[in-house]
Amino acid sequence: MIPVLVTGAGGFIGHHLVKYLVGRGYWVRGADIKLPEYEPSAAHEFLQCDLRLHDACQRAAQGMEQVYHLAADMGGIGFISGSHAEITLNNTLISAHMAKAAADNRVKRFLFSSSACVYPMHLQTSPDVTPLSEDVAWPAQPEEGYGLEKIYMEKLCQYMTEDWGLSTRVVRFHNVYGPLGTYDGGREKAPAAICRKVALCPDGGTIEVWGDGLQTRSFMYIDDCVEGLYRLMQSDYTAPLNLGTDEMISINDLVDIAASVADKRIAKRHDVSKPQGVRGRNSDNALIRKVLGWEPATTIREGLAPTYRWIEAELAAGRAGRLPDAAE
Ligand code: NAD
Ligand code: GDD
Repeated sequence: MIPVLVTGAGGFIGHHLVKYLVGRGYWVRGADIKLPEYEPSAAHEFLQCDLRLHDACQRAAQGMEQVYHLAADMGGIGFISGSHAEITLNNTLISAHMAKAAADNRVKRFLFSSSACVYPMHLQTSPDVTPLSEDVAWPAQPEEGYGLEKIYMEKLCQYMTEDWGLSTRVVRFHNVYGPLGTYDGGREKAPAAICRKVALCPDGGTIEVWGDGLQTRSFMYIDDCVEGLYRLMQSDYTAPLNLGTDEMISINDLVDIAASVADKRIAKRHDVSKPQGVRGRNSDNALIRKVLGWEPATTIREGLAPTYRWIEAELAAGRAGRLPDAAE
């Protein structure tokens, strides 16, 4: 069995990836500062440790052939637009130590999870945004803090490949959603937040939507995300690659789709004082089609249905409540 490390295995994507890799016959070590919140990990071994620390990263990488590095201090726009110092410092420590540990332990492949947040802010000022192709990331103007660390780490991966021969893969995720993802507490992203608000809202009621709702995004379903991660790791492609759908929708559309899944009439109360991030963002998938001969295919309508049902069931079971007012 090939030994593989998944960092961030207590988080959303990492937890799904561990299940996927175990299903494919890998021996999987998970590492995270916390255990998965919603179901037990499928990992063969789970190291609960603080990956900001050099020694924890060295221990985690020991004996591994491949590393999927997903651990990060992470959240939706409400979270990453506050605490720039803490997020930047934590993620710099985690990723630099993890990449060095991968090199020191001579792992065969190291995959770094970057983000669409590396793309220049000035290219994302319109809802009708031109899809972002990989080559426009430089000259750089990433999102403050979180995006800055991601683009720095992309370069560190490149330098470790050039100077030390570490074989790296770099994925730029666009907004990922699905069951078992954070849906309350302040770190949730728009799809989970909207599902939660719709689930808690009576038929005919009103929910709060951040911004005017005209801002746009593309959203990738978690099954496509883990499939894409696996395919990229198998490939020989080492430069940064978008992983997202190119189905761009407005946040108002997202609310309408969630309402239709829930079979409720839902009105919107827009709050432009809330964090909004970029005005428009979409993935250009020409390169992933060429490199992998594949791209994420699940539409938002298909993916939001199981996501909504899972969040609705969580709320019905009374497992939420980490927000003082879950409708905010
Ligand atoms: P997540 O928050 O669910 O998972 C990240 C995990 O990292 C968490 O379980 C957290 O406990 C762990 N972690 C944080 N600090 C740690 C520390 N000091 N030591 C050990 N573990 C620590 O986030 P996710 O959605 O699964 O994202 C996974 C990766 O993908 C992250 O690197 C994130 O930046 C990147 N990404 C995700 C998205 C998305 O839409 N989900 C978009 C762009 C990039
Ligand atoms: N979180 C959230 N909660 N967003 C809302 C809400 C709400 O209740 N209502 C409307 N929105 C709007 C936000 O104002 C923003 O314009 C849009 O929905 C998307 O918000 P998020 O999903 O929180 O974040 P993002 O798309 O700006 O950035 C996320 O994706 C990046 C990758 O594409 C973040 O998770 C980043 O960390 C990630 O790198």
